[in-house]
Amino acid sequence: MTAIRAYRPSDRDAVDEICVRTGASGKDATGLYSDDSLLPDIFADPYLTYQPDLAYVVDTGDHVAGYIIGVADTVAFADWYKREWLPGFTKRHPLEAAATDDEREMIRYGLSYGSRLVPELGEYPAHLHIDLLPELQGQGFGRALIRRLLAELEARGVPAVHLGVSGSNKSARAFYDRLGFHELPSSSPEGPSLGIATSAVV
Ligand SMILES: CC(C)(COP(=O)(O)OP(=O)(O)OC[C@H]1O[C@@H](n2cnc3c(N)ncnc32)[C@H](O)[C@@H]1OP(=O)(O)O)[C@@H](O)C(=O)NCCC(=O)NCCS
Repeated sequence: MTAIRAYRPSDRDAVDEICVRTGASGKDATGLYSDDSLLPDIFADPYLTYQPDLAYVVDTGDHVAGYIIGVADTVAFADWYKREWLPGFTKRHPLEAAATDDEREMIRYGLSYGSRLVPELGEYPAHLHIDLLPELQGQGFGRALIRRLLAELEARGVPAVHLGVSGSNKSARAFYDRLGFHELPSSSPEGPSLGIATSAVV
């Protein structure tokens, strides 16, 4: 039976693959960059390493096909990322080896993570990423994953969470709007950032 459960270290490859297969504004990003590990090296693995206790997966009984990952304190995470994650990232993805402008831009994003944090971190200290393979989409698992993470954050005393969504990912935006996320004051059309209280009923 398909169910949500806590992340285990043995799920890491599956999470990485889902990250890639949903990494082009919700669509498959396989082969988009010369190394498929680039996206998970920014958007999944640092989280799974830093705060695995805030990661949940959807397990079909046969394989893992979706996840939500988050950090409770984005400022502390960004400090850790710069100190602990960046040295390895820099070696694994040398900027000068980028094959395309898009790849260079993505590596730059990974190198500069933490320098463009939303200004509303005092009120929205946590942030999250959520991705489901197409086989699981549209069946309520996204809502259930958000609910699970909000409940856990609330239990830890975290008041609210934020996230970034690509301006071109209209489908994800419709999902967040439906659940009651609102735009943060600093949000812009090119890079919308949304937030929600952890006490919200979604
Ligand atoms: C975006 C995503 C997380 C949503 O999860 P999901 O399981 O497909 O969504 P749910 O089935 O839980 O939908 C919850 C509500 O949002 C609505 N919704 C979801 N997608 C929608 C869409 N594209 N348009 C309009 N409403 C939508 C649903 O209708 C549902 O509302 P209802 O319960 O009142 O009917 C998932 O589709 C996904 O992983 N997509 C690919 C990766 C991605 O874009 N990730 C986000 C990156 S920021």
